[in-house]
Amino acid sequence: METNTKATDDGRKIVLSGIRATGNLHLGNYYGALSKFVRMQDDYDCRYFVADLHALTTHPDPKMLHENVKDILAEYLAAGLDPEKNTIYVQSDVPEISEMYLLMNMHVGIGELMRTASFKDKARKALGIGTPAEGEDEEGIERQIIGNQTNQRVNAGLLTYPTLMAVDILIHHADFVPVGKDQEQHLELTRRFARRFNSFYKTQYFGEPVNFNFGGSAVKVPGLDGSGKMGKSEGNCIYLIDDEKTLRKKVMRAVTDEGPKVPNQEVSEPIRNLFTLMELVSTPDTLEHFKNAYADCSIRYGDLKKQLAEDILKTTLPIRERILDIRNNDEYISKVVRQGAEKAREAAAKTLRDVREIMGIKKF
Ligand code: TRP
Repeated sequence: METNTKATDDGRKIVLSGIRATGNLHLGNYYGALSKFVRMQDDYDCRYFVADLHALTTHPDPKMLHENVKDILAEYLAAGLDPEKNTIYVQSDVPEISEMYLLMNMHVGIGELMRTASFKDKARKALGIGTPAEGEDEEGIERQIIGNQTNQRVNAGLLTYPTLMAVDILIHHADFVPVGKDQEQHLELTRRFARRFNSFYKTQYFGEPVNFNFGGSAVKVPGLDGSGKMGKSEGNCIYLIDDEKTLRKKVMRAVTDEGPKVPNQEVSEPIRNLFTLMELVSTPDTLEHFKNAYADCSIRYGDLKKQLAEDILKTTLPIRERILDIRNNDEYISKVVRQGAEKAREAAAKTLRDVREIMGIKKF
């Protein structure tokens, strides 16, 4: 049997990534993931998908699911992903993933899954338990989940989320997985499951995929509320689909401070966040100008925000227009995903065949 070739027939490395279908994409998704997807499409064999099965772990809403998938597809295409260069597909269109997820789960421990940060976080939310205070018993959550007598439930899909994500990646033998910083732990688990599978079956079948950041480090996009990252559940997002008025309003309302009182005063977190956003969207000259103005205390936050809104709009408005166009073109979207599913299934079916054989599943 052929082992992991670590590249396509034409020698290009394989890239795989996806985003959950739980709502519109914001600047955090864009700079953390989607803009990397676009930059990689010319040099690698890229496969990008919409994670609708993963969305079910937290958003089981039959009315919304399909619309959410469509939103992400339109946003992928509007941001510049070319369906001729990439394989663009919907996770549930590739049933091989679900079968391999079942098989892979036989080699995954419930303890390691329960210790995953994203699981603890989501389990706490599902049970309505607050974040533990600094130094508080972290293991309490595991006891609370097992002992939970309320009618709240932490679904098993949430627990096995990392298995499904590992399968998304391993079924394509991906070399690179461009994702934001928050996904690093899942990627670490993917490598661990790959090594474990290899060593259990005494094979070299799976390689170990890594994140990809163009030589820099993973980006963390801050929110507009003064602290932390931009995130859907934090309610501090700028969406690619935001219209001009909404976007300007959000930026103008961003949290600031009282302004520098002495030259070269240390920069507080809310202001640092605005500079970080500016670093992503504005020219180096613009950033320099406002940093200097901060240093000599002449800065006016209103001007800074106006400029920031202007520069964000330069990126998002053209994308927004294309999203609206593509979203109206059902025929185009379905053509893209049909073509994508076919290609993705070809690769997935081969891996699944191999995995079944390695595990000893045979036909009579
Ligand atoms: N967990 C990812 C997120 O929340 C989405 C995802 C699912 C993914 N499967 C993946 C990302 C495989 C990269 C590769 O953003």
